[in-house]
Amino acid sequence: MSIKSIILAAGKGTRMKSEKPKVLHEIYGKPLLGYVLDCVNGITDENFVIVGHHAQEVEDYVKSNYKNAKTILQSPQLGTGHAVSMACDELKNYEGLILVLCGDTPLIQQETIAKFVEFHKQNNSDITVMSTIFENPTNYGRIIREPDNTLKCIVEEKDATSEQKAVKEVNAGIYCLNWGKIKQAFSELTSNNAQGEYYLTDIIAWGKKKALNVNAYILENNEEIFGINSRINLAQATKILTKRVLNNLMTNGVTIVDPDSTWISPDTEIGQDTIIYPSTYIEGKNKIGKNCKIGPCAHLRGGVEVWDNVKLGNFVEVKKSVIKSNTNVGHLSYIGDSELGNHVNIGAGTITANYDPLSKVKSKTTMKDNVKIGSNTVLVAPVTVEEGANIGAGTIVTKDIPAWSLGITRSPLKIFTDWVKDKLR
Ligand code: UD1
Ligand code: CA
Repeated sequence: MSIKSIILAAGKGTRMKSEKPKVLHEIYGKPLLGYVLDCVNGITDENFVIVGHHAQEVEDYVKSNYKNAKTILQSPQLGTGHAVSMACDELKNYEGLILVLCGDTPLIQQETIAKFVEFHKQNNSDITVMSTIFENPTNYGRIIREPDNTLKCIVEEKDATSEQKAVKEVNAGIYCLNWGKIKQAFSELTSNNAQGEYYLTDIIAWGKKKALNVNAYILENNEEIFGINSRINLAQATKILTKRVLNNLMTNGVTIVDPDSTWISPDTEIGQDTIIYPSTYIEGKNKIGKNCKIGPCAHLRGGVEVWDNVKLGNFVEVKKSVIKSNTNVGHLSYIGDSELGNHVNIGAGTITANYDPLSKVKSKTTMKDNVKIGSNTVLVAPVTVEEGANIGAGTIVTKDIPAWSLGITRSPLKIFTDWVKDKLR
């Protein structure tokens, strides 16, 4: 059966205090919305993102990053139920499953969504809502059950009685719907509530009234539905995500010397027996091999492929580069848009000058196998250092260097004997 998703991302995100739409705020260089789309991708065959505030920016992001996602404009924004109804035209003849998620919950995991869909199918459910337990459920919609424990309805905080407010089971904001049976609901929802909005949550009571099979799937790890409403939440989510990533890496044989000061994006693969030293920051998509030593204080900015037995030492920054096996970049270097061969040694303070600020063009630096670069070298890209060549310390490399040659730019060292003594006299 086909599964499609509707991702709600039209809201304003006032508390972010930002010019940027909330769902485009980033964790490790990836927008929040990207996390949700990556989560459903592989489960769904098509995704609809409901956009409103800063619609154009969100649409541009979706268009240029996700082929199987379309944006649908919701203007004005009259509530979550109204948001989903915006997809009714597109899905007029659709009879499969619809997953509804929010674009501001980046911690939701694919395996959780897979289990959720499985639960929906196994129970022959028409509507399944994800719920979870919070000791402090403030601001969430509460799950209200019948005496026999079946679902009755969802009540929003602002509409809840004090008795309902005491309920700790909350609506996680994720739904699985048999679209063929549910789509009719969206022409029947009303905005007769405290916020004057069309609530998506009202489909629970609607479904019960129509004698549909309505169920809740209780999510154990409530961290996964943590929503971003403020910059404080953004930092908290980054911490939670990082802890998950680091635990996963350690479980798979990577040493993280100090998890409290290490930051690694979830899109970074790392091989066994690699050691990550403290204060290392790795963002974007990267692949690091086995037996490497990274940091302390290394900064990988994405698009980095590191083979096995590589050392990237302290204050080394790497971006969009391939570094092959047994290569050392020990100290204080910048490697960008580069390809480094096997057994390359890079002296301290080496810079690949990859960017021309006048033409705004970025160029590539290539170093073949066994190249040795002396300390404080600048390689002005585009440039190639062929196999086995050596570069003397302090050299500015502006031409390709042939294999097994020495390249060196250096004004001769002058020595003035007793110069200091004379000065002091
Ligand atoms: C919603 C649920 C609540 C649940 C909570 C979980 C409703 C009525 N309430 O509340 O039961 O516990 O999520 O996080 O659904 N959006 C639109 N268009 C709109 C309104 C909202 O796209 O017209 C989007 C927002 O951008 C956001 C999502 O829908 O991504 C949720 O909206 P929000 O206003 O944050 O709902 P909550 O009050 O948190
Ligand atoms: Ca919310």
